[in-house]
Parts: sequence; structure tokens; C-alpha cells
Amino acid sequence: MNDMILDASGLSKTYFLKNETIGVLHGVDLKVKKGRFVVILGPSGSGKSTLLHLISGLDRPTQGTVVFDSVDITSHDDVRLSQIRNKKMGFVFQFHHLLSEFSCLENVALPALVNGVSPSSAYEKALDLLDRFDIGDKKNRLPDEISGGERQRVAIARAMVNDPLMIFADEPTGNLDEGNTNKLLEVFGGLKKEGRTIVLVTHSLEIAKVGTEVYRLKEGRLDAV
Ligand SMILES: Nc1ncnc2c1ncn2[C@@H]1O[C@H](COP(=O)(O)OP(=O)(O)OP(=O)(O)O)[C@@H](O)[C@H]1O
Ligand SMILES: [Mg+2]
Repeated sequence: MNDMILDASGLSKTYFLKNETIGVLHGVDLKVKKGRFVVILGPSGSGKSTLLHLISGLDRPTQGTVVFDSVDITSHDDVRLSQIRNKKMGFVFQFHHLLSEFSCLENVALPALVNGVSPSSAYEKALDLLDRFDIGDKKNRLPDEISGGERQRVAIARAMVNDPLMIFADEPTGNLDEGNTNKLLEVFGGLKKEGRTIVLVTHSLEIAKVGTEVYRLKEGRLDAV
């Protein structure tokens, strides 16, 4: 059985601005097996978001390949990429990116509806997830009507609704206080226990403790810690 979910190799990323070329990643390799919780540590500006965007097909590398679920996604067009992302990947961003005009329940159900799941099943699944993360009672509120910590839990519920093969999290506790950070770490700890495959990037050593494998991104290269 092939339990390698992600195999990225030789990833480089250079941004080309008007008068400047900015080399951010210089030959990064990353393999992630099923059930692993990988944490990538690095200071601000080290390229964590850039790397996360490359391995999840949100952006394309200047060089290198990304094989996700046995498929080289670097060769896919944008339409195919967005289908793979919706079906097989879940995203939790630093700033939740919830849709402000939709309720929490609708936000969580939306990726399932886009995926062709019936409305009754999508809403049932969405409510189960909100309940699981202790925010079922907030289901009819708009994202602006709940706290930052609750919003991040809604974002995790949304990331989970299509049972993704992999969850990508970009500094998910970035703007939370200690209590909400701990609550979110409990949620990630629960996902780890149930064998979910996760890649999380952060600048925080404290958060990195939740991982089963920790790497450090420095000067465009990735090393095991
Ligand atoms: N679209 C872009 N065009 C030009 N440079 C960019 C672009 N996006 C990022 N960069 C540069 O690439 C470097 C890495 O950025 P990135 O956002 O990946 O860092 P990060 O580790 O996620 O930082 P943070 O912890 O602050 O979120 C930075 O120097 C940034 O200025
Ligand atoms: Mg970032």
C-alpha cells in the first residue's frame, strides 16, 4: 500500500518584481506519510506560507514537483487543481477566510455542497463538526458575531467537512490569546489522535510540540529538527 500522501521535491520559488527577484525557497524536499502531523517552524518571512501554497497547489513552484495522492499536481491546470483541493485538501488559514455573509453552518457546509453532497447530508455533517468543536450553539451566527477562537474552530470544521486526505494549517493560532490557542491545540491534538494527516506551519516552538515530525525552514531550505 502506498501511504505516501505528499512527495514534494526540489521546490524552488522565486518572486519576480519590477526591479527585484526574490528567491524564497531553494530546493525544498518534503515527504508526508498518512497519519503524520508535520510541523514546519520558521520566523516571519522565511517562506512558510509560500511553501504551504506550493504543496497545496494554491501557487506554482518556479522549479520542482509536487506529487499529492500519487498525482503530479504541478502539471494540472487551475480547474483541475481546484477540484483536487476541494475534494482532498482542507485549509485553515491564519485569518479564517470565512464568508462574512453566510452563517457558520453554511460556511462549513459549503465545500461539501460544492463537492456535490446533498444539502441534507452536507448540513448534517457540518452540524456534527460544529458540535464536535463545541460551537454547535453558534451555528446560525455570522462569522462577525462570534469570537476569534470560535471562528478558527469554524474554519477547522470547514476544512474537515469533505474528509480531506490532508489538512493544511497556516499559523492557525496566530491571532489568538493563550486560552483560545490551547483550545485550538486540543482540537488539533484530537485530529492527530484519529490519524488525520496534517501539515501545519508556525513560528511558535510551543505550537510545534503538537507535531509528530518537526522541520525548520531557514534560508530557503528545510531541515529536520
Ligand atoms: N507575491 C509575492 N511577491 C513578492 N514577494 C513575496 C510574495 N509573497 C511573499 N513574498 C516574500 O517572500 C518571503 C516569504 O514570504 P512568506 O509569506 O512565505 O513568509 P512566512 O514565513 O509565511 O511569513 P509570516 O510568518 O510573516 O507569515 C518574504 O520575504 C516575502 O516578502
Ligand atoms: Mg505566512
